[in-house]
Amino acid sequence: MPLMEPYRIKVVEPIPILTRAEREAAMARAGYNPFNLRAEEITIDLLSDSGTGALSAAQQSAGMLGDESYAGARSFFRFREVVEDLTGYPSILPVHQGRAAERILFGAVLKPGQVSLSNTHFDTTRANVVLSGATAVDLPCAEAADLETPAPFKGDIDLGALAAHLDGDTPVGQVVMTITNNGGGGQPVSMANIAAAAELCRAAGVPFFLDAARFAENAWLVIQREPGWAGKTPREVARAAFDLADGAVASLKKDAIAHMGGFIALRDPDLAAQCELVLIATEGFRTYGGLSGRDLEMLAQGMREVVEPEYLAAREAATRHLGECVKAAGVSIVEPAGLHALYLNAGKLLPHLEPKHFPGHALATELYLAGGIRCAELGSLYLGEEDADGNLVTPAPHELVRLAIPRRVYTQSHLEYVAEVLAEIAKDPGSVPGYRVVEAPPLLRHFNCVVEPV
Ligand code: F0G
Repeated sequence: MPLMEPYRIKVVEPIPILTRAEREAAMARAGYNPFNLRAEEITIDLLSDSGTGALSAAQQSAGMLGDESYAGARSFFRFREVVEDLTGYPSILPVHQGRAAERILFGAVLKPGQVSLSNTHFDTTRANVVLSGATAVDLPCAEAADLETPAPFKGDIDLGALAAHLDGDTPVGQVVMTITNNGGGGQPVSMANIAAAAELCRAAGVPFFLDAARFAENAWLVIQREPGWAGKTPREVARAAFDLADGAVASLKKDAIAHMGGFIALRDPDLAAQCELVLIATEGFRTYGGLSGRDLEMLAQGMREVVEPEYLAAREAATRHLGECVKAAGVSIVEPAGLHALYLNAGKLLPHLEPKHFPGHALATELYLAGGIRCAELGSLYLGEEDADGNLVTPAPHELVRLAIPRRVYTQSHLEYVAEVLAEIAKDPGSVPGYRVVEAPPLLRHFNCVVEPV
């Protein structure tokens, strides 16, 4: 059977197609910041794979069965059954999205002065560690530093560094393994690495959690790439990963193919009870946690659909195909391509731009101006450090652009269109201008800054 999307389109939404002049006006109005664009100005939106997936007919109809009772809703018990079955954890708390799960769990686990270790903390994860008074330290494996090596598990944690920190003077409050490693190029984490990290944590008496936003995509790449796992189902592999941890937080806006939702799932009933108190005070009662009954139903159905091998195989093939088209156009990517996004090496494509002129941002802006494609940089605008006068003193290690692929939304021809626009840019990269910051807030500046072409 040739690889193709294992679904057909039942409901369609027109996408806006603007002229170059209209896009130029929109970008100038947006202060050259894609986060300030309006959706009606965008042709292909690759800003995030979070909350942007297409619902199935089965999810829509499950939504109609949503029980909106304040407490004890039928929909909660369906949701809990699915999460329990998937993770094996006895305590399940729904939350409105991933960062709420992080805030509540880390608030209960971490103490000021402690350190949280991770293969890479996602940015909200890091922020919630900091809000708990602790420090977040990323320990990516050595292979992750080389963008172009096609090593299979560049999302792994550096086990030597993990052991050294667990043995060090600063108390470690938790270890969080992000599967797949979004901040680290969407790369998967091997089961061997999860098992070894779990073992080190157990020996040190430190809780070990998964940030399981893309649990099914990680499981799929384990089946494809890790010896000993071929032939297992994605559900079995995901369960084996959950089995190794003390609990998990998850944004269900990704691998539950739904618009909103998340969970905290734990083995320790005392820790769960502590989290539940904060959940009730800040998110909602324990049987809805900031979600509607309709959401809980659609999430439960989405978690069943996302582990279907045909769906995951098609998603892998789509991202890989985009990667091949992009490379044929002369643009380097973070190798190997994962599932949820393709990361473009803008620094390599635009060597005439110094980091202080933000090559990643320049390429992201050009993709919009040339083709109405929205995406965001992961480079010095987002991760660089500046002095008090706004001069870039520490650039990001790499100048990347993330093309995040929403689930079940774009067809192969949409993705080929993206590659064609990129190919046009790659014909004359020297004409792409750099940018400088005009206005920036002190925190999370990539969301709100105003920049202008140099
Ligand atoms: N953890 C990971 C690995 C994530 O990728 C995200 C969100 C979160 C936690 C937070 O979840 O958004 O539901 O609060 N990632 C999105 C992205 C925003 O575009 O990668 P949330």
